[in-house]
Amino acid sequence: MKLLFSNIKELLQVREEKILKVSGTDMKELPSIKNAWLLIEDDRIEAYDSMDNPPDIEVNEKIDASGKIILPSWCDSHTHIVYAGNREQEFADRINGLSYEEIANRGGGILNSAKTLQETPEEEVYKQSAKRLEEVMKLGTGAVEIKSGYGLTEEAELKMLRVIKKLRENYELPVKATFLGAHAIPKDYKERPQEYMDLVINEILPKVAEQELAEYIDIFCEKGYFTVEDTHKLLSAAKEYGLKPKIHVNQFNAIGGVKAGVEHNALSVDHLEVMNDEDIEILKNSDTMPVALPSCSLFLSIPYTPARKIMDAGLPLALATDFNPGSTPSGNMNLVVSLACIKMKMTPEEAINAATINGAYAMELSESHGSITKGKKANLIVTKEIPSYTFLPYAFGTNSIDSVYVNGKLV
Ligand code: NIG
Ligand code: FE
Repeated sequence: MKLLFSNIKELLQVREEKILKVSGTDMKELPSIKNAWLLIEDDRIEAYDSMDNPPDIEVNEKIDASGKIILPSWCDSHTHIVYAGNREQEFADRINGLSYEEIANRGGGILNSAKTLQETPEEEVYKQSAKRLEEVMKLGTGAVEIKSGYGLTEEAELKMLRVIKKLRENYELPVKATFLGAHAIPKDYKERPQEYMDLVINEILPKVAEQELAEYIDIFCEKGYFTVEDTHKLLSAAKEYGLKPKIHVNQFNAIGGVKAGVEHNALSVDHLEVMNDEDIEILKNSDTMPVALPSCSLFLSIPYTPARKIMDAGLPLALATDFNPGSTPSGNMNLVVSLACIKMKMTPEEAINAATINGAYAMELSESHGSITKGKKANLIVTKEIPSYTFLPYAFGTNSIDSVYVNGKLV
């Protein structure tokens, strides 16, 4: 099946050579072809060029993309899409003056979602999660990472991971699974947190690995949650099972999570709302991708990740949604890209690089996703007729997407 898009106003993120990520000042460059055509064959990108060199081939279908921009679909490398119920009451409580921390200390927050998830049948969790996944695919997400972490018991953590596996089997887009058993300390373990760590490391982790339910390991390294020492212990144990770290660090406090992540060769360190100079230094000379989650900052009214400081230090940066019921009940990558420009002073070029190729890197998908490159998966966003790609982040809250393709198939 050959599908040809012609008269494309601009084809974005065209990378002749396969690159894994873009860093520092290179993020300011967004290579493109104006007035372009793009040929896809089955699930792959077959060829592209300027309309000045028109393709001379027979195709099954032609689409006129006059006035429209085509770019690779968003790569959302940090989500908690699998959950049960919602936490809109906590949202109202926060409006009325309680802080996220106060709500958590009262047994709300992650523990609230864990209780709901434990009580919800697996089929129902799947149904609720699949609906969210379909929603974000229509918003242009073409690759996604999903974490466990609202189970907090062996049974419920494995249940979450089986739901992630089923989503991967039933949907076209790549779905990466991360085991986040160390997301919060359950109420019963409040006085003996080390015993919960032992449960995660000695009981749940081996089963996750044995049943091949996750490729990555995560921990919420934060005051009131898990320590740097816990982080070292968990990441060392997970390494034995071949699980790479992608960890929650520096959301509210800089306690040394970035250093711990880099020491364990983390694929990514995520959140980073609070960064000190030492954290930036440590990330230099590492292969770890810093990941910012601006819609979490918006929803919780917490600082935004210092994107300029990170990129100006020559580092790469990825953008993701953090879609979850507590701190970010939104999986809209278009909003994330807008917020990155508006609140983090990223240029549109930097934000699009961060949400495509660098997001792919943070899921080990940049060989196959994140750019318009011959042989890569045909995961595409086709915009409506818009004046320029800068219009995408500029017209925040406007849906500028006309259609989305995953593996060459219309979503
Ligand atoms: O990434 N920070 C830790 N975990 C999630 C939020 C958890 C929740 O409130 O349910 C996050 O923001
Ligand atoms: Fe998160």
